[in-house]
Amino acid sequence: MWPAPETGCWLHPAVEVRASPISGVGLFARAPIAVDARVSRLGGRLVSTAALLRPATDYVDTITVDDDIHLVLPPDTPNGKGNHSCDPNLWWAAPYTLVARRDIAAGEELTNDYATSTGVPGFAMPCRCGTAFCRGRVTGGDWARLDLQARYGDHWVPALLAKIRA
Ligand SMILES: C[S@@+](CC[C@H](N)C(=O)[O-])C[C@H]1O[C@@H](n2cnc3c(N)ncnc32)[C@H](O)[C@@H]1O
Ligand SMILES: [Zn+2]
Repeated sequence: MWPAPETGCWLHPAVEVRASPISGVGLFARAPIAVDARVSRLGGRLVSTAALLRPATDYVDTITVDDDIHLVLPPDTPNGKGNHSCDPNLWWAAPYTLVARRDIAAGEELTNDYATSTGVPGFAMPCRCGTAFCRGRVTGGDWARLDLQARYGDHWVPALLAKIRA
């Protein structure tokens, strides 16, 4: 079993929310952020898959914690504004914690690959990240892709890493 989440989230002080070319708003670095720096720690409440898939649930503001357990972020937390990229500059380094995957310049949008944090069956999102690696569509089954497993190594939420290693 994974550690219980904090009830609240923490965000690096150099991160702000603003309009994104990917979609709506996103998270941006106001100052350089070094590789491996901690950028976002998520908290919130744990819910079952059935609760998550109820109509009107915004399942994107969640991460998979176990087969039938998902962390739902508190409403309106800026941490929940992170957009997806198929070539992200953040990735998972500890339960609930995103760190810089590479050195990030001031002004860059901070992104993570939703496939590394959701194994929700039926989840699918058309992608407009615009990177050379864009898959066009992100799904709750992408964790099973060998190319992504090779690219991200251990940098998945623990529940998906356990599935990959099984
Ligand atoms: C966690 S929210 C991110 C914040 C969101 N952009 C906003 O303005 O509130 C996730 C939603 O953002 C959009 N989104 C995030 N990444 C995207 C991408 N790469 N391509 C298209 N839409 C994306 C989708 O609508 C998705 O459901
Ligand atoms: Zn993409």
